[in-house]
Amino acid sequence: MRVGALAHETDFEGWRLAARQFRTEGLRPDQVRFAVGAETAQNGLFDIYFPPTPVEGKSAQEFVVPKAFVDLAGSVILHRSEDRFDLLYRLLWRLREEPNLIRIVSDADVADAMERAKNVSRASHKMKAFVRFRQAFDNAGERWVAWFEPAHRVLEMTAPFFARRFANMRWSILTPDGAAVWDTDALTFGPPATRDMAPAEDEIEAFWKTYYASTFNPARLKTKTMQGEMPKRYWKNLPEASLIPELVARSSVRTDDMVAAPASTPNARLDKTLARMGRDASFDEGFVPSNLDELDRAVQACRRCPLWRDTTQGVCGAGARKAPLMIVGEQPGDQEDLSGQPFIGPAGQVLDAALDEAGIDRGDAFVTNAVKHFKHEPRGKRRIHKTPAVSEVSACRWWLDAERRLVKPKVIVTLGSTAALGVLGRKVAVTKERGVALTQPDGARVLLTVHPSYLLRIPDAASKAAERERFVADLKRVRTLL
Ligand code: URA
Repeated sequence: MRVGALAHETDFEGWRLAARQFRTEGLRPDQVRFAVGAETAQNGLFDIYFPPTPVEGKSAQEFVVPKAFVDLAGSVILHRSEDRFDLLYRLLWRLREEPNLIRIVSDADVADAMERAKNVSRASHKMKAFVRFRQAFDNAGERWVAWFEPAHRVLEMTAPFFARRFANMRWSILTPDGAAVWDTDALTFGPPATRDMAPAEDEIEAFWKTYYASTFNPARLKTKTMQGEMPKRYWKNLPEASLIPELVARSSVRTDDMVAAPASTPNARLDKTLARMGRDASFDEGFVPSNLDELDRAVQACRRCPLWRDTTQGVCGAGARKAPLMIVGEQPGDQEDLSGQPFIGPAGQVLDAALDEAGIDRGDAFVTNAVKHFKHEPRGKRRIHKTPAVSEVSACRWWLDAERRLVKPKVIVTLGSTAALGVLGRKVAVTKERGVALTQPDGARVLLTVHPSYLLRIPDAASKAAERERFVADLKRVRTLL
């Protein structure tokens, strides 16, 4: 076992040099580990590698990794998880064989790294929102000091924001990871601090409390959302947070007074569906469902793109929960939107007949769509299908990927180019890649074919029959892969 000795918890340069060295030596992920500081010095059992200083390191054998990986790694290293260095080394190791790995967001390691990077970015945002300076004085005069406990190690990444924002003030932000000090000219970083090093209270506190109480709108209170935005872990350092419990308790009384008439609803049909499902409508962007029922409920609250506004409901996948085969279409159509079930309209009938002919039982498969809400435009009384935009497909990949993680299909068949985009994460010419079984990093095989509604649109009977035969042949191929 080789151990990469890192100088401190966010020693990205040290990790890079050690990882590069290990990778060059051909050491597999299970043959290396990384450890910070003193821990390694005491560890006589292992062969410890101390990375050279960055200048010496330049001569180390170089190999090229995508910039996207370097950026991702730079964020992930700030995550508080112990195994972050190992995860990054695993990705680095795999990059040589899979140079496009970082683009495959359905890959478990990539998804894990992206999730951690997202948490880090969120912690930085929270820091920008919730640092509260308190007034202090030293020999040079007024100085502002804040105590803050970031969820991840984001002090160095976030401090420049405060230097720009409060350029003319002398301030320090003290955290358990270190301190940032701005003297109106230069930003420096010091050792970890403790809460008692920051002043406890000042008159500015009263200002925050007054401000917060006056801007608090009880009619808009959603406790869950509020706690998502202002997680409880930050409350203890926010002067205004001491008001929250009382304001929340009083809110229903105040709301009753304020609301004279019921609010109008933008989409009565959606509201009815939601009421029927009895779901909690608050949308939590980071929520990761642990089963398909949770996923279904969460999709109903999804606000990742605007498509939900004009629909009856989100339509998730249906079928066998641990299906070896996943069939992915584009998006629900009119009937699917009304019923909440995928592929039950005309395209669904074409699909069912073709599956039958190919010897595949739809009941053994999990049938879903790349986009979970029906995109359409009204024409008279009808709702006419509109192809979802790339941004909508990308936004919805969160759910498709979650379905993939839960169902774990061996084979995925994509119907049409939107489905292929949703599954592969890249634009695809279906006619070029049709019928080729692509192997995904999670081991799943993906087979691309056309969408059944394409068959419905072919006017000429002979061409229609020929195309249908090709479609059935693709599905037979799917069967052999299974
Ligand atoms: N078309 C699709 O792509 N999916 C459906 O669920 C219905 C029609």
